Amino acid sequence: EEQLNKRTTFHKKRILITAGPTKEKVDPVRYFTNHSSGKMGYAIARQAVQLGAEVTLISGPANLEVPAGVKHISVESAADMYDAVMEAYPNQDVVIKAAAVADYRPKHPFNEKLKKQGDNLVLELERTKDILQTLGEKKKHQFLVGFAAETTKPLEYGKQKLEKKRLDAIVINNITEAGAGFSGDTNKVTYVSKSGNTIDLPLQSKNDVAKAILQQVAKELKDDR
Ligand code: CTP
Ligand code: CA
Repeated sequence: EEQLNKRTTFHKKRILITAGPTKEKVDPVRYFTNHSSGKMGYAIARQAVQLGAEVTLISGPANLEVPAGVKHISVESAADMYDAVMEAYPNQDVVIKAAAVADYRPKHPFNEKLKKQGDNLVLELERTKDILQTLGEKKKHQFLVGFAAETTKPLEYGKQKLEKKRLDAIVINNITEAGAGFSGDTNKVTYVSKSGNTIDLPLQSKNDVAKAILQQVAKELKDDR
């Protein structure tokens, strides 16, 4: 197996990574979010620095230490993340979208604390913009890697996302499998490239998953030339 050359693998490459959940405001004291811890994205950022990349990490609220050498941009909502990602995008060589972005947000967030009234409450939600879909549509030279969190038919749904969002690769996460998913320190993923190359990675630490993903990205970037 080809050994990765530390510090030179991604020499002069700019890698943008998104991580963590987003937070969508309901009123001044409440919000919608999800179970993403940010650990997977932060691990990718840490490993990418080790491999010599210039790393920008755009993350929603995560309780994690930012790895040394990483340019960190902290955001809250899906809309904030969209703006930060779009601004950074033109300069990037690789984008890895590990963030768990809200698909919907309250359509009319309240400026005053919502008082309880009645037995039921209906909140209207509206779709957020799909950041990764937009990156796919605007893609020039960038190598685009998405994540897919699935509870059923992971390979089928993951491959659909790869095509629909015009990605170069997708990391498919079956979040119902033991040791996989949002909050733990391990993960079990399948890497699928647009050429159809499918790699089932073993259950391992998120750091090792990050290494394996970056190794595969490096290989595909090299094969591209
Ligand atoms: N994503 C994004 N912007 C959104 C929603 C998702 O950039 N508004 C990105 C995620 O960061 C991830 C990929 O799209 O890299 C797939 O996210 P996922 O939630 O698995 O899929 P969706 O396309 O949102 O479809 P669904 O949730 O309906 O399965
Ligand atoms: Ca989604």
